[in-house]
Amino acid sequence: WPAEDFQANLLHWYEENKRDLPWRRERDPYKIWVSEIMLQQTKVDTVIPYYERFISLFPSAKALAEAEEETVLKAWEGLGYYSRARNLHAAVKEVNEVYGGMVPNNKAEISRLRGVGPYTAGAILSIAYNIPAPAVDGNVMRVVTRLLLMYDDISKVTTRKKIEAIIEQIISEQHPSEFNQALMELGALICTPRNPACLICPVQLQCRAREEGVQETLPVKAKK
Ligand code: ADE
Repeated sequence: WPAEDFQANLLHWYEENKRDLPWRRERDPYKIWVSEIMLQQTKVDTVIPYYERFISLFPSAKALAEAEEETVLKAWEGLGYYSRARNLHAAVKEVNEVYGGMVPNNKAEISRLRGVGPYTAGAILSIAYNIPAPAVDGNVMRVVTRLLLMYDDISKVTTRKKIEAIIEQIISEQHPSEFNQALMELGALICTPRNPACLICPVQLQCRAREEGVQETLPVKAKK
C-alpha cells in the first residue's frame, strides 16, 4: 500500500475539488482555531456566516481576549453548545496573557488550552503551522477505516489513537495542511456515511472496503 501514490492522488483531487471556504483563505492560527471549534458540532453551511461575523467582531486573539464574555456569547448565539464559546474565550485569554497572543505551535502547550482536544490541536498544528500532526475527526475515521478495512469500534479512544498512528505514517511531510484538509474533504464530499461516491473517488483503487464491497458497513460504531 504505497503512501506516496495515495498522497499524490488525494492532494491532486483536493486541489481540483476543494470548496472555497472562508477559513481556507487564512493561515492565522487564531482564525483556524475559531473555525475548528465552530465546525465541531455545527455544519459547514451554518458555520460560514457565524465565522465571518465572529472574525469581524474579534479579528485577533488580543481582540477576543479583551472582549466581555457577554459580547462573545452574544456573537455565538444560534450556534449552540455555548461551552465551546466559553472555553474558547478562556483559552484565548490565556494565550494572550501567557504567550503574548501567539497560539502555541507545539502539541504539549496547545493541548493544555481549554477546549482544545487531540483533534483541534492537530487541526491547528497542521492547517495553520503546516506541522505533520494527525487531525482525526469522524470524517477521517470513516475514510481510514474504509481504506484499510478496519473493523475497530470508532467510539473507542484506542481506535482513534490507532488511526492517529496510521496518519502519522501516511501524512504528506511536504503538505500536511493540505493532506489533512483533503482527508476531511474526501469524507465530506465523496466518502460519505451513506452512498459513498466510490466511482469518482480519487483513491478508489487503494480502498480495501471498496475492493470487498463493504464500504457502507464501515465504520463500526458500537456505543450509542
Ligand atoms: N470540518 C472540520 N474542519 C473542517 C475544515 N477545516 N474544513 C471543512 N470542514 C471541516
